[in-house]
Amino acid sequence: MSVSVLVTGGAGFIGSHTVIALAAAGYRPVVYDNFSNSHQSILDGLREILGTDVPCYVADCTDKAALFDVVEREHIQGVVHFAAFKAVGESVQEPLRYYRNNLDALLTLLEVMLEVGVHDLIFSSSCTVYGTPDHLPVTESSPVLPALSPYGNTKQIGEEMLRDAVTAGKPLRVISLRYFNPIGAHSSALIGELPIGVPNNLVPYITQTAIGLRPELIVFGDDYPTPDGTCIRDYIHVMDLAEAHVSALNNLRRLGALATHYDVFNIGTGRGASVLEVVRTFEEVSGQPLRYRIGPRRSGDVPAVYADASKAQEHLGWTARRTLHDALADAWRWEQHWQKLSAQP
Ligand code: WQD
Repeated sequence: MSVSVLVTGGAGFIGSHTVIALAAAGYRPVVYDNFSNSHQSILDGLREILGTDVPCYVADCTDKAALFDVVEREHIQGVVHFAAFKAVGESVQEPLRYYRNNLDALLTLLEVMLEVGVHDLIFSSSCTVYGTPDHLPVTESSPVLPALSPYGNTKQIGEEMLRDAVTAGKPLRVISLRYFNPIGAHSSALIGELPIGVPNNLVPYITQTAIGLRPELIVFGDDYPTPDGTCIRDYIHVMDLAEAHVSALNNLRRLGALATHYDVFNIGTGRGASVLEVVRTFEEVSGQPLRYRIGPRRSGDVPAVYADASKAQEHLGWTARRTLHDALADAWRWEQHWQKLSAQP
């Protein structure tokens, strides 16, 4: 009987790709999602890729009774926790909604895990905990700076809650994964990123511009202290990121009888790319020029951040395998597929 793993937020962008990676590794993923930021078509895509229905519960992580029932009924032995609000700008406008949702969900999950006796947890954290780093690339011992947004703060507080629970001796074995910039889609183009409304993030904005949904891309500033003046980020293919969750879960399960454990890993490619480099690479991928112009800086953007991901390679045996070109090609294929799908009656 394969090990059942609860994937909260499993119908979301990173969650759905992690469902694929878990199944490919022989785990039995169980999706638990309130669909506040996803679409039924993602479940259809998962079914088509996996050739079977993925157990899915439409419920909220702050609903303790519902969560307790699913963890018991599905004999869950490990959890990958994605379910959270994640729009940086929105979190600045609605901080209390973000603290309530993101922290309440994690606390409820931990209570259920401890009551049922589930020990292994992979927590979705973020490179935003590094703020504007003094040194690059950032390592896991780079200073965690005051968060630049309530969203980023919920990730920092989440990590601290988990570390404190383990330090207190609670029977939890936890790995926090600090993501850099997830982009791309599964190579089948049957699942991908589904930004609700106008995309905040660069790559979905690029693909929507290329397909004609947006008139042009605005590059937010080209006067940063970087080689071409535009911001540098560590863009990681979402399938590489998904596979990192499997490597982290495998690492926990290899701990055997060890009751408590906490660790943190950067999950990035270790390579920085500027906004203009992403634009140029996308133009190679799509074979067409992208309409863009330079606009003013976006507040809160840091000039450059990218990962030193050597700790994950050394301890988890994981490293990013796919290139920026691969990710943009998969993102473009997904955009074209999704526009056809959403145009159907
Ligand atoms: C990337 C670069 C923009 C849009 C996000 C999340 C963060 C974390 C990582 C989860 C920046 C520029 C963007 C546009 C642009 N995710 N840009 N025009 O801000 O690095 O971080 O992913 O934890 O929480 O916010 O990603 O894609 O928004 O921006 O020029 O229309 O692209 O200025 O330099 P970001 P992003």
